Amino acid sequence: MSKLFVSEHPLIQSKMALLRDERTGAKEFREIIGEVAMLLSYEATRELPLKEMTVQTPVDLAKCCVIDTKLAIVPILRAGIGMTEGLLRLMPTAKVGHIGLYRDPETLQPVEYYCKLPTDIAQRTVFLTDPMLATGGTAEAAIGFLKEKGVKRIIFLCILAAPDGVKKIQQAHSDVDIYAAAYDPKLNDHGYIVPGLGDAGDRIFGTK
Ligand code: URA
Repeated sequence: MSKLFVSEHPLIQSKMALLRDERTGAKEFREIIGEVAMLLSYEATRELPLKEMTVQTPVDLAKCCVIDTKLAIVPILRAGIGMTEGLLRLMPTAKVGHIGLYRDPETLQPVEYYCKLPTDIAQRTVFLTDPMLATGGTAEAAIGFLKEKGVKRIIFLCILAAPDGVKKIQQAHSDVDIYAAAYDPKLNDHGYIVPGLGDAGDRIFGTK
């Protein structure tokens, strides 16, 4: 069973209060999404593999450890883009790919309309981002697409998670851990997380 990590860090909780507040404007909202994503990526990178190496200090040799995997950040279009800069702050050498999906109105199946990934994506640990894990349909499909491309290790990062979305990922992809800044109890009839923070994409990009 994949792990669900929900942050209890005071910095993240205080920033979540600002994100939830309907009075927070797009500029501040975007900045805080980036800050929360950065803090969350600190937790989500905790279990990355390490390799030992020796470094010559000005005094003596020191045994050190460095991350032993190549990294990629893959935001799901469009709201996931809002988290990218925050993750890059802590993982500046990561490559960035993008995935866009829509649901076919007839088949209801997710269809990939945009996909640009690093050519060596299969060799990278992938941090897949989408601020709102609501029904989980998009996240489930995006994880499936990454696995089809040969990706072995995927970590899903969101700002807010809801039970339906968590359940969907855990059932379909039990090897994918989920990191969330907060966990809300339910969805409304429109698929919005309650109490949530509204439409993350519109609030990040100021489109409403
Ligand atoms: N997407 C959003 O932007 N907000 C929600 O509450 C659910 C999905």
